[in-house]
Amino acid sequence: MLLRALFILSSATTPTFALPVGTTNQNATLGSTVHIINIPDISSQACNTKQPSQELKNTHKALRDNPHLHPRTTQQIQVNVYSHFVTTFDQAYHYPPNVRKNLIGKQIDALNAAYQSANIAFAPKTTSYTVRDDWATDANSTNMKNSLRQGGYADLNIYFQTNLSSAPYRYSPASTLLGYCTLPTNMTYPNGHGGLTEFPPYDYATDGCNVLAASMPQSPVKVYGYDLGKTAVHEVGHWFGLLHTFQDNTCDPSDPGDFMNDTPQESISTSGCPTGKNSCPNRAGYDPINNYMDYSTDECYTQFTPDQQARMISMYNLYRQNE
Ligand SMILES: *[C@@H]1O[C@H](CO)[C@@H](O)[C@H](O)[C@H]1NC(C)=O
Ligand SMILES: *[C@@H]1O[C@H](CO)[C@@H](O)[C@H](O)[C@H]1NC(C)=O
Ligand SMILES: *[C@@H]1O[C@H](CO)[C@@H](O)[C@H](O)[C@H]1NC(C)=O
Ligand SMILES: *[C@@H]1O[C@H](CO)[C@@H](O)[C@H](O)[C@H]1NC(C)=O
Ligand SMILES: [Zn+2]
Repeated sequence: MLLRALFILSSATTPTFALPVGTTNQNATLGSTVHIINIPDISSQACNTKQPSQELKNTHKALRDNPHLHPRTTQQIQVNVYSHFVTTFDQAYHYPPNVRKNLIGKQIDALNAAYQSANIAFAPKTTSYTVRDDWATDANSTNMKNSLRQGGYADLNIYFQTNLSSAPYRYSPASTLLGYCTLPTNMTYPNGHGGLTEFPPYDYATDGCNVLAASMPQSPVKVYGYDLGKTAVHEVGHWFGLLHTFQDNTCDPSDPGDFMNDTPQESISTSGCPTGKNSCPNRAGYDPINNYMDYSTDECYTQFTPDQQARMISMYNLYRQNE
């Protein structure tokens, strides 16, 4: 694996880097009323991304311990994005075609702004629109993704769901979720000719990110504090393989946490934007409250660290850019 990583990283050519233009620059037609969605407990409702597999942790450890595998230079990648807007019947009236188009364009712009420092650009491809209660609440996620997912394992699919929730997938403020995403996993097998072949799309149909539509920039239905499109920025970080800055919720110096050397150890996720928060006072540094991989408010989220930026490129090359 490491040998292959070295090969990819040293032989990769630099693709041309062009910031894709959002689908529109016009502000949404918001109407006179802004509707508010309440998230009572951000620590349990921000993100339902699963715990990392041992395989992913091993890759993180290998990349952390072998800095020569980190391309700290100007390697750039461009990711195709397929956007799916999925609404319940009762919410559809908020999202006429021009509003949806504007929201998706603004969301792609927000992703590009946040990932520019990592030399990652997002190129919008097709969008889909579905009005269906069980998909919009995420009651039938696998079924939805089997029907809607586009592209290969290197391509990002984002499902913007108006009523994204956790089990039992019935609407209540307490079950509303901001998002979750699949972490990368090894989708290749040796093809017998010295190379690797990617599994067929059916095997990774659930790959992608689920995001509450109300977190999109300028949405007519919004969650206060989480309305600048940074939820998608956080979730897509997971899609590239990043873990939470508070991974494992401990100050134990022997715990690898998020496997980054430049994010201070953090034992408690952040809510709001509390300057000076220090959940591990005996460990170096204050909590990384401005890091996209914490749970802070959108305004507070301003950075990926250099290690996270490099790690995303490494992980993308290892897991998602298969020939
Ligand atoms: C994925 O599995 C293949 C075949 O076992 C192996 O050659 C490759 O290095 C693995 N890739 C990663 C990123 O672990
Ligand atoms: C969108 O609205 C904001 C805030 O009202 C304004 O500053 C900005 O210029 C508008 N952009 C466009 C393209 O109309
Ligand atoms: C999911 O969708 C499939 C196909 O439409 C349907 O057969 C199944 O009953 C649904 N499951 C749930 C939990 O809604
Ligand atoms: C969708 O969410 C809204 C609140 O944002 C709620 O009023 C509505 O009942 C939900 N619809 C369904 C089908 O869950
Ligand atoms: Zn998360």
